[in-house]
Amino acid sequence: MTKVIALANQKGGVGKTTTALNLAAGLLRRDQKVLLIDLDPQSNATSGAGITKEEIVFNSYDVLISNRAVKSAIIHRADNFDILPSSTELAGAEIELTKKKDRQKILKRKIAKEKEKYDFVLIDNPPALGLLSLNSLMAADSVLIPVQAEYFALEGLAQLMKTINLVKEHGNSGLTIEGILMTMTTHTKISRQVVSEVEKHFSEDTYHVTIPRNVRLTEAPSFGQSIFDFAGFSSGARAYNKLVKEIISKNGEEQS
Ligand SMILES: Nc1ncnc2c1ncn2[C@@H]1O[C@H](COP(=O)(O)OP(=O)(O)OP(=O)(O)O)[C@@H](O)[C@H]1O
Ligand SMILES: [Mg+2]
Repeated sequence: MTKVIALANQKGGVGKTTTALNLAAGLLRRDQKVLLIDLDPQSNATSGAGITKEEIVFNSYDVLISNRAVKSAIIHRADNFDILPSSTELAGAEIELTKKKDRQKILKRKIAKEKEKYDFVLIDNPPALGLLSLNSLMAADSVLIPVQAEYFALEGLAQLMKTINLVKEHGNSGLTIEGILMTMTTHTKISRQVVSEVEKHFSEDTYHVTIPRNVRLTEAPSFGQSIFDFAGFSSGARAYNKLVKEIISKNGEEQS
């Protein structure tokens, strides 16, 4: 069974892309077949995975707006690892999508067949709750929400939860919370307070593992590498490895 996980948080810079890239890499290391979909015009997941502009023939814009087949845009990055790359053109998609019929469900329809080839489909989203993120939430089985351990983290979360509930009411009733992941945690009092606050409000959904602030995580994508290849013994690698284990065991249980 394929699991489609959307990484979403309308707040920018919270670790969506970092988590998408390293989760993909961690799943691959555990023999899972992964498709990473980059739905952010910033294209950070595409470049962080080591894909250059020259390699891209078609991208997620062509799939959503120009009705290209997903298959024609997919880049085979490594064994068991495919990527549907993004492009800056995608910035125009938010407006162009408004003109389309069934505008929230285009991604769901486009990946319906293709997704069956994979164990996990991960969708990286832009920092907004627009039509691109809505397409992800409609296409997804679950949402993984990275939350940066800093003040105001909870405010954005409430709005995101509202959107998730709306999506559940209007077209994707099976959508679940994969988990809330605290990122860039430090040993400061503020960081600990925010983590325990989020745990208090969302105790069921918050991962036990937290991702510490680790400079290695910021360096790895510029080499097109995951944290496991770039700095396998770093605190970031250890934390993401725990997350991968938690996700595999949770989904294994659900599927069996
Ligand atoms: N655990 C971490 N420790 C240190 N730096 C991190 C960590 N996680 C992410 N970063 C850095 O923080 C910045 C934002 O992270 P990232 O790009 O993953 O967030 P994002 O939510 O995808 O951002 P956007 O909303 O702009 O797409 C990046 O420079 C990234 O390298
Ligand atoms: Mg990002």
